Amino acid sequence: MDDQYRTWIRDIPDFPKQGILFRDITPLLGNGSVYREAIRTLADKVEEWKPELVVGPEARGYVVGAPLAVTLGLGFVPVRKPGKLPYKTVSVEYALEYGTDRLEIHEDAVRPGQRVVLADDLLATGGTMRATMDLVEKLGGVVVGAAFLIELKQLGGRDRLGDIPVYTLVQFD
Ligand code: PRP
Ligand code: ADE
Repeated sequence: MDDQYRTWIRDIPDFPKQGILFRDITPLLGNGSVYREAIRTLADKVEEWKPELVVGPEARGYVVGAPLAVTLGLGFVPVRKPGKLPYKTVSVEYALEYGTDRLEIHEDAVRPGQRVVLADDLLATGGTMRATMDLVEKLGGVVVGAAFLIELKQLGGRDRLGDIPVYTLVQFD
């Protein structure tokens, strides 16, 4: 099954910078049955963690996190780049495979003690998801796991997420 998904991910060398092999999920997103099956597979796993809320970072995190939340009958919380959220926010700085940025969340988006699952398309260095996790924890949320379509294993992102369970559909060495 892993191999079935792998064929729907396109490799783009040297995007967005020289030396980066970009794993493009748009072929997978463009096929309704493959996209639906991928989200269902993530949902079946994530359900075991008994989450109450899904949180995902802009922008590709939304194409995984939002359908995952709907499939599980849960709410979805967007984490955004600076200046995009309309209400009061808390923020953290984070490092990317290719740069640095800040992420923000609405200060009332997660209730203290609420069980949160994190979702994104891809785990690379883990900087984005670590920052997302830090935001949830700042609000008192309990991160019960993280789910991704793709894991770039050599970048060791999993190690930055501490002890939480991490589920990825397709891994690249
Ligand atoms: C990409 C991807 C992940 C992150 C993974 O997002 O969607 O969120 O990088 O990298 P990391 O594990 O090293 O943090 P990007 O910041 O390129 O933004 P986008 O989703 O808006 O394209
Ligand atoms: N985000 C961070 N690294 C990436 C990569 N190699 N391909 C696609 N998205 C990414």
